[in-house]
Amino acid sequence: MSKSLIRPLVEGLKAYVPGEQIIVDGLVRLNTNENPYSPAPAVLEKIKECVDGRLRRYPNPGADGLREKLAAMHGCKKENILVGNGSDEVLEMAIRTFVEPQPLGHGNGASGRSASTVQYFWPSYSLYPVLADSAGAERNPVPLMADFGIPSVPELKSGKRWDFEAALSFVTTPNAPTGRGYKRAELEALCEAQNGVVLLDEAYVEFSEETAMELALRMPHVIVARTFSKAYSLCFQRVGYAVGSEELIGAMHKIRGSYNVNGLGQIAAEATLENLEYYRNNFERVKKTRAGMMQWFAQHGFLAYPSQTNFIFVKPPMISAQEWYLCLRKKNILVRWWADEEVKDYLRISIGSDEEMKRFCEESEKILLGNLKTS
Ligand SMILES: Cc1ncc(COP(=O)(O)O)c(C=O)c1O
Repeated sequence: MSKSLIRPLVEGLKAYVPGEQIIVDGLVRLNTNENPYSPAPAVLEKIKECVDGRLRRYPNPGADGLREKLAAMHGCKKENILVGNGSDEVLEMAIRTFVEPQPLGHGNGASGRSASTVQYFWPSYSLYPVLADSAGAERNPVPLMADFGIPSVPELKSGKRWDFEAALSFVTTPNAPTGRGYKRAELEALCEAQNGVVLLDEAYVEFSEETAMELALRMPHVIVARTFSKAYSLCFQRVGYAVGSEELIGAMHKIRGSYNVNGLGQIAAEATLENLEYYRNNFERVKKTRAGMMQWFAQHGFLAYPSQTNFIFVKPPMISAQEWYLCLRKKNILVRWWADEEVKDYLRISIGSDEEMKRFCEESEKILLGNLKTS
C-alpha cells in the first residue's frame, strides 16, 4: 500500500508522555502528583456497595447527580457544570468547542489566525501542546517571567507575543510544574483584557492560597477546570469538571461523548463531596510535609521554588538534574524530569507521605555525600 491510511496530522504528532508507571516492590512514586493518602473510608465503602449486577447498566449520561452536588458546592446551577473523564478530557473538549482547526496545509505557527489559536504560558502543563496539535490548532506558548510569574497585562501588550484575541487560553493556576501560585486579582486583569475564552486550570488549587472560581461564575468567557485526581485521591477513577457560563458549558455538552464519565467514577466523586472534612485534613497534612521539605531543600543546597501545589520544583546541587533523576531512579525513587530547554535544570518532586519523603531525603543525602567525595 503506497498511501498512508493515517491522517498526516496524526502521523506527525508527538504523543503525551505521562510520568513512568512502573510497579516494583518498595518503589517511591514522586513523579505523578498523586495524593499519598487513600480516599475516605466512606468513599471506598460506597464504591464497593455498587459493584454488583448493576454494572451491566449504562451510567447517568451527563453525570447529573454529581453536577447537582458540584453546583450546590459552588453556588451555581447544574447548567454551569460539565463533568469529564478526568480534567484532561475537559481541556480537550474546550479545544474542540472553541478552536477552529487551521486550514489544511498550514503547519504550526503559519496561519496567524486567532480563531485557531490555543495559547498558554510556558512552562506549564505539557499536555496543552499535545492537545492543540492533535486538534490541528495553532500553538502559542508565551514564556513566563524568570521567576515563573505571569507578566502583567501591559507587559504582555508590549511583548507582543500574547494574543489577546486567541480562541482559547489555558492558564495553570497554581502553575505546574513550577508550583507557583497566582493572585486572583492578576488573573482577573488578564481575563478582563482577553477577548477569547480563558480556561483557568485549577488542578492543584486545594493546596494553594487563592482560587479564581469567582471569575468563572461572573465572567461569561472564563472557565475553571478542577479535578478529583489530586486533592481527592481519585486518579484511578478519572473525574474532572468545568465551571462556567451556561452558554460556554452548554456548547461543550454538545460535543461530549454520550457516557463520558464512568459510573463508579460518578459514585466515587459524589461520595467524596459528602466527606470533605476528611480531605481538608489531608490537604493540611500535605502542606505540612511540603513545608518540612522546603526546609530540607534549603539546608541541602537545592534551589526550591515556593509551592502552592502538592509538588516542589527544585534545581538540585552538584550534578545535573538529569543525573539526579537517574541516581534516584536507581534507588527506586521516581521523580519527574523533562529534557525541554526551559526546564531541564529542574526536578518536579511530588509530596508523598512522611515515610516516603524520609526515604527520598536519606537517599538524596547519600547522593550528595557520594559527590562530595568525588569532587
Ligand atoms: C495542570 C494539570 N491540569 C490537569 C491535569 C489532569 O488531571 P486529571 O485528568 O487527572 O483530572 C493535570 C494532571 O497531571 C495537571 O497537572
